Amino acid sequence: MSFGQAALLAAPTSVAHANGAGPGFVQFADVEKSYDGRTFAVTRMNLTVARGEFLTLLGPSGSGKTTTLNMLAGFERPTHGTITLEGQPVDRLPPYQRNIGMVFQNYALFPHMTVEENVGFPLSVRQVSKADIAARVGRALDMVRLRQFGDRRPSQLSGGQQQRVALARALVFQPSLVLMDEPLGALDKKLREHMQLEIKQIHTMLGVTIVYVTHDQSEALTMSDRVAVFNQGGIAQLGSPDDLYNTPQSSFVASFIGENNTLEGVVDHVSGEQCRVRLNGGGEITALAVGVTQGSSCHVAIRPERLSLSPAPAGGNALSATVDGRIYLGDHLRLLARLANDQVLTVKVGPEATMANGEAVTVSCAPNDCRAFPADAGKAAPFQNRGK
Ligand SMILES: Nc1ncnc2c1ncn2[C@@H]1O[C@H](COP(=O)(O)OP(=O)(O)OP(=O)(O)O)[C@@H](O)[C@H]1O
Ligand SMILES: [Mg+2]
Repeated sequence: MSFGQAALLAAPTSVAHANGAGPGFVQFADVEKSYDGRTFAVTRMNLTVARGEFLTLLGPSGSGKTTTLNMLAGFERPTHGTITLEGQPVDRLPPYQRNIGMVFQNYALFPHMTVEENVGFPLSVRQVSKADIAARVGRALDMVRLRQFGDRRPSQLSGGQQQRVALARALVFQPSLVLMDEPLGALDKKLREHMQLEIKQIHTMLGVTIVYVTHDQSEALTMSDRVAVFNQGGIAQLGSPDDLYNTPQSSFVASFIGENNTLEGVVDHVSGEQCRVRLNGGGEITALAVGVTQGSSCHVAIRPERLSLSPAPAGGNALSATVDGRIYLGDHLRLLARLANDQVLTVKVGPEATMANGEAVTVSCAPNDCRAFPADAGKAAPFQNRGK
């Protein structure tokens, strides 16, 4: 990637890198979408995207990510609420008049056109002069390192090359907003990771606002300024990758982002920020109380790297267990520790750990590394027709 070439393509001077603060560049206000009038694909969505931000919509299949993107692109109309782009409702303009670039999973290149013609297409529909088109297409192809493939047709390119053509085509007309729906979904792991870096570098260079859809959490955490975690048509939590990893607000987000052990139990009592939990099947644990109340069922989430096999410090949690498996991963070892209630915890330890299968161990962790959530939180309310 040549940053110099990327900078030549477009450099809107007003772009400020955002961290969620500042005026809303894109705004969803109480947006809902129902395709059938009975169930909601998107429910009561309020979302602000800042200018220059890389925001990712992350969530399981069917959680409403594409629907949200399609409403922003103007391909679908909300059944309720409004979406504005730079203060203007998006549905006032037909899609081709919105200054939005798009990249989708299946490239959607025109098969009968050459690479150059594909990339130049958004400029020719905007009536840019032929000389200008040639220059801008050249710069866009330089940016994705495909200048030498300009005469080929899409079928003569690899998947990664086709995706780069799609990227060049989405950026060539200097859109202020680029929407990407699982753009790397069809690529193998190595190429996907390479393209993640390329897209991120292009974002940094051009300062363009990107709304990106994926169901791959590591992709979301690597690339984004902020991530909106979708669940059942709503946003379960919106925050920086660090926020989502370290301070999940629900059992759903805790289990969707990164790896977590989940222990089920009942809240014995809440005291300040912490609560004492009686675990199902025996044992007790002190955890941070994240929205739980006394007597309620809860899920306690603990990351494998927050558990240790050293003795618990004063006030720490200690659970008796038996080693039930060892998985060697080079730089670390994952020990499976079976508790008295038969639940198995994954504990991340150094590769030098010597514990053998069947050995009795004490698994310990600090209360602040355990998060107790209501057992049913994180699941959106069941779909229902709210009427208008
Ligand atoms: N054109 C449509 N007509 C009717 N229902 C639809 C339509 N498009 C999507 N849906 C429904 O809306 C819900 C949300 O779908 P959407 O495509 O937005 O999910 P997604 O999060 O993008 O999922 P995936 O990760 O599988 O792409 C799903 O229940 C889906 O079946
Ligand atoms: Mg989708």
